[in-house]
Amino acid sequence: MDQHVKILFLCTGNSCRSQMAEGWARHLKGGVIEAWSAGIETHGLNPNAVRVMAEAGVDISGHTSKNVADLMDIPFDYVVTVCGHAHETCPMFPGKARVVHVGFDDPPALAKLAAGEGEKLDCYRRVRDEIRAFVETLPESLNKQEHTMEDQSKDALRNEVRDRYAQIARSDGGCCGEKSSCCAPDSMNRPELSVNLGYSEEDCAAVPEGANMGLGCGNPRAIAALQPGETVLDLGSGGGFDCFLAAKQVGSSGRVIGVDMTPDMLGKARENARRGGWSNVEFRLGEIEHLPVADNSVDVIISNCVINLSPDKEQVFRETFRVLKPGGRLAIADVVMLRELPESLRGGSATYCGCVSGAVSVPELGRMLRAAGFTSVSVEVKEESREFIQEWFPGSGVESFVASAYIQAKKEGCSCCG
Ligand SMILES: C[S@@+](CC[C@H](N)C(=O)[O-])C[C@H]1O[C@@H](n2cnc3c(N)ncnc32)[C@H](O)[C@@H]1O
Repeated sequence: MDQHVKILFLCTGNSCRSQMAEGWARHLKGGVIEAWSAGIETHGLNPNAVRVMAEAGVDISGHTSKNVADLMDIPFDYVVTVCGHAHETCPMFPGKARVVHVGFDDPPALAKLAAGEGEKLDCYRRVRDEIRAFVETLPESLNKQEHTMEDQSKDALRNEVRDRYAQIARSDGGCCGEKSSCCAPDSMNRPELSVNLGYSEEDCAAVPEGANMGLGCGNPRAIAALQPGETVLDLGSGGGFDCFLAAKQVGSSGRVIGVDMTPDMLGKARENARRGGWSNVEFRLGEIEHLPVADNSVDVIISNCVINLSPDKEQVFRETFRVLKPGGRLAIADVVMLRELPESLRGGSATYCGCVSGAVSVPELGRMLRAAGFTSVSVEVKEESREFIQEWFPGSGVESFVASAYIQAKKEGCSCCG
């Protein structure tokens, strides 16, 4: 079996940087890497690139400029884009190829600013040496690079979600009954919507004005069986609706902590608490993937329509497991995927921030919960949720692909001996 790591270096015209990278990879790493290079277009081999590589003892004069379209059948392990243009226009590769971007300066562009022939070649030499240093770290460094990129794209997703919910928090000056936001149909007022989600009219009336933002997809308290004196944590607390209701149930000997990553939401929730004089509720700024909460300190974790928005759900479940006391429990309302989403509902920020395309299937949720250490895992799909979910993206048929579900799980043990 071929043990070589197959790497394609890709740039705009396959004339200079990708050719140097291929040359270095063959020269320095021939025993472990099988290297190719290509361009999004073909510009012919750059003679200065050939010259400075020859100075370094690498002959690339026999290379030709190739179009990436002609190499799509090769089962690459990695495609390394070495310029920004190739990174942005890189085609989709079939199979397991992972695309990693490692940008280098463009020698011809640098050379335009150079004073004479010697300085021009120095630009090529500098980039040649930077590419050599990078190739020397291959293939191990690609794994690291890949993880850094994964982290960056998770951060980018979280930022989109944060921006979206900041907008909602800022635009929403009113209380129950006003036109609602992403997860709520325009045609329904908030108490009506909340009753559809399983709240009572008394619930709606019991919370501070503005706390019920109509952003949930169920009523986690309905399955939480909260007891006086318990400590409750709400993941993605928004305007604080579920926190205030939980606070009533756990009473003055209990405590509720809401965590949300959107400062505007937090500001709103804190203001709601202050106005209502709720002394057993506090709101903390933080990501549910990195909870600002001590180990083994919480009896019950509730959450309403939030975990689907996390780009790292496994990390969320590991964190919830960490902060729960032994014997503690999860009681979550969230969106789950029933069937593979069609293209129209899959891509784009609107369906992700709108609690649709980030949802995972019931078996996948179960797997993640058990992997985090939870037992007694149950996920109950609420068929009746189709009624309000169809309003989220009217006419799209979204209700056939996702549904609201109640998710429960336990951290084994008892608080007395844990
Ligand atoms: C759909 S709203 C639900 C709000 C609230 N649970 C409710 O039912 O009204 C989602 C909330 O989760 C927050 N959120 C989303 N992703 C988060 C994350 N990774 N960490 C912390 N908060 C997050 C958003 O800022 C927003 O306030």
